[in-house]
Amino acid sequence: MEFEHVSVLLEETLQWLAPRDGGVYVDGTLGGGGHSARILAACAPHGHLYGIDRDADAIAAATERLGDSPCFTAIRGNFHDVRELLAQRGVEQIDGMLLDLGVSSHQLDTESRGFSYHGDAPLDMRMDQRQTLTAGEIVNMWPEREIARILSDYGEEKWAARIAQIICEHRARGTIATTADLVRCVDAAIPKKIRMREEGHSARRTFQALRIAVNDELAPLTRALEDAVGLLAPGGRLCVITFHSLEDRIVKHTMRRLQNPCTCPPKAPVCTCGKRPVARVLTGGGVQPGAQELARNPRARSARLRACEKL
Ligand SMILES: C[S@@+](CC[C@H](N)C(=O)[O-])C[C@H]1O[C@@H](n2cnc3c(N)ncnc32)[C@H](O)[C@@H]1O
Repeated sequence: MEFEHVSVLLEETLQWLAPRDGGVYVDGTLGGGGHSARILAACAPHGHLYGIDRDADAIAAATERLGDSPCFTAIRGNFHDVRELLAQRGVEQIDGMLLDLGVSSHQLDTESRGFSYHGDAPLDMRMDQRQTLTAGEIVNMWPEREIARILSDYGEEKWAARIAQIICEHRARGTIATTADLVRCVDAAIPKKIRMREEGHSARRTFQALRIAVNDELAPLTRALEDAVGLLAPGGRLCVITFHSLEDRIVKHTMRRLQNPCTCPPKAPVCTCGKRPVARVLTGGGVQPGAQELARNPRARSARLRACEKL
């Protein structure tokens, strides 16, 4: 299967994850298997790599690429359920896990998936094609206030209320069926002189917000990161690549809290809460792509890698 995706921060991820022969690893966002191919090469022939993705296309592409190896298992599922998915396979401890969050280029560039504001496709945006909720259902059925909240919370869109209002006026006249219909609503909501001054496409934030809502990308993330660290053996590492500030903030705060979970007042002479550090942050402010990678792959521009190590 044709699956176009250039892996982001590949060498840096390998450096911080530090996979070794005999180790057990999880790639929670398998995609086309770009990161996985390198992790697998490092942990084989005595280790194992479990690759999770909720997208059937990703599972097919990665299975085609890596499925011949007895050290690789592809799992169609949600990494939010990593504990259960591994327990079902008798795995209770791992040596490292990678999360390369967000959508793949394959998902963005396959017009029929409805992730892109270029082109004209049904408003879908589901990563897991078995799921029933689509972007079309949100824009056509959900209350105006809820749509405005999504655009504001998940897109940091200043024009959220106005876009939600235009969406609701538009849908009263007929269904908002396609990505181009939605772009027209955004264009009608944001004054032209403001749109002209914007660096990227003015529908970018609206599409990001709807994608996050459809795929419930943010709310379960903190618990998923805690579960991942919970699965790590001492010295095991969690690496997370994010592509926007909302998810990066969650990763940064969760890793910091795992490093310093104490909830005692800062001036308390001794700790009485009993919460002990479980991990150590390895990457400080995070690792960003270098100029060479950005020249090769402009989609990497907002990427940031954070890593922590289980104590
Ligand atoms: C950025 S791509 C990963 C690309 C991959 N690292 C590579 O090098 O080919 C993100 C992938 O994660 C998947 N994904 C996103 N959130 C997920 C989740 N909660 N559970 C499982 N898969 C998820 C998407 O379907 C997509 O295939």
